[in-house]
Amino acid sequence: MKTRFKLSLITKALLITLVLAIPNSTLGSEDKSNDKEELHENGEELFQSKGCVACHTIGKGKLTGPDLLGVTERREEEWLRNWLKNPDTMIFSDPIAKELLKEYFVPMPNQGLTDEDIEVFITYFKYEDSNQKEVEEKD
Ligand code: HEC
Repeated sequence: MKTRFKLSLITKALLITLVLAIPNSTLGSEDKSNDKEELHENGEELFQSKGCVACHTIGKGKLTGPDLLGVTERREEEWLRNWLKNPDTMIFSDPIAKELLKEYFVPMPNQGLTDEDIEVFITYFKYEDSNQKEVEEKD
């Protein structure tokens, strides 16, 4: 009788541990999507605070500069990194940049971005490219 009681206590303890462990593991994956959401918000904020919104939209058409929707698909990541760092010198040396200048007439000013800003933007553009496309495909 005594051992039985002990066993059932152990079983209960195990069950409780399991029940507690399951929501914990799902919480873990929720955290990850929050991280992604946060990265996206950082990008959106930076896009506004650095003044990109004066010349660019993402998915809402051209302004002084091109609509940046799809930019991670039409350009190599290395090209984007380079461009965000040195638009003012690339405009003289890079064939794609020269073509863009012909179309938009205004050279994009150097925005003084740090490497960190550039990574945030690239993540943000990729996120927008995959998410806005999904929305379009659903329509
Ligand atoms: C004064 C207007 C202006 C501002 C501000 C500006 N851009 Fe631009 N951007 C342009 C123009 C114009 C082009 C097209 C190339 C050219 O003519 O220099 C361009 C091109 C680009 C491209 C390449 C687009 C493509 O289709 O390949 C990216 C990416 C970009 N800008 C990102 C940014 C980001 C990020 C910021 C903010 C940190 C920013 N721009 C701020 C005017 C601007």
